[in-house]
Amino acid sequence: METLHHIQALRQALAGPRRAGQRIALVPTMGNLHEGHLELVAMARAHADLVVATIFVNPLQFGEGEDLDAYPRTLAEDQAGLARAGCDLLFAPSTRELYPQGLDVQTRVHVAGVSEGLCGSSRPGHFDGVATVVSLLFNLVQPDVACFGEKDYQQLAVIRQLTRDLHFPVKIVGAPIVRAADGLALSSRNGYLSEEERAQAPGLYATLCELRDALIAGTPAADAIATAHERLVSRGFVPDYLALRRADDLGEVDAQTQEAIILAAAQLGPARLIDNLNVNLSQRDG
Ligand code: PAF
Repeated sequence: METLHHIQALRQALAGPRRAGQRIALVPTMGNLHEGHLELVAMARAHADLVVATIFVNPLQFGEGEDLDAYPRTLAEDQAGLARAGCDLLFAPSTRELYPQGLDVQTRVHVAGVSEGLCGSSRPGHFDGVATVVSLLFNLVQPDVACFGEKDYQQLAVIRQLTRDLHFPVKIVGAPIVRAADGLALSSRNGYLSEEERAQAPGLYATLCELRDALIAGTPAADAIATAHERLVSRGFVPDYLALRRADDLGEVDAQTQEAIILAAAQLGPARLIDNLNVNLSQRDG
């Protein structure tokens, strides 16, 4: 697997395969790869002839006081993992390469509606940063397919809308959350947890499962969410949000909604963890 750091080299490397009619899949990442990322590469392999991964810790999507500097940079391990997973090409640009004019004057992409609320409220500007870098990568790689994890559920919704609204001819594929045996969703940020916090962390997923079961059993949503919120606190989390939304567009749930999603973000020690769980409200008792 070749690693390229410059846009010109990337464009040169992709010109031949594109001319030969090869299907190209893109897996954008910020590195510090875990099994969930490698599953994305495997999924990309199944959709394309050539798999391009990117590693770029995108400063535009980090707010002030967030973990941009602390975010783990593990290029050598990531290269080995990507090669094993069947990636053909890695693009790992510097910030200067992607944003040569500087961050302050960088043209940004804002995805209306779905970027608002949830993580969009707690992390102002975050989804503009994501939408900007993903647009840029779509433009540089011009993939046929791009794969993203469903753990970042709101991000996936933002990317689907961005792809539709900007008419990118890219098929967006979402990959199911990969969990540790105890239920914790894999995340690069799990590495921030102490041993004790790591033992508490599956409590987030456990709470989402309890909330889903309460909803299916017919408990009114507001009551079930309030109980789950208390449960999160008693399990040592500082909840940011715990919400029930329509699964397709993250709009408010109403009496007609069938496919819903529970979304949560909570702080545990130094780590801000997010998770989500589908719930089919048509199965509700009563
Ligand atoms: O999910 C991520 O790792 C990032 O938000 C992404 C999509 C690679 C954009 O920087």
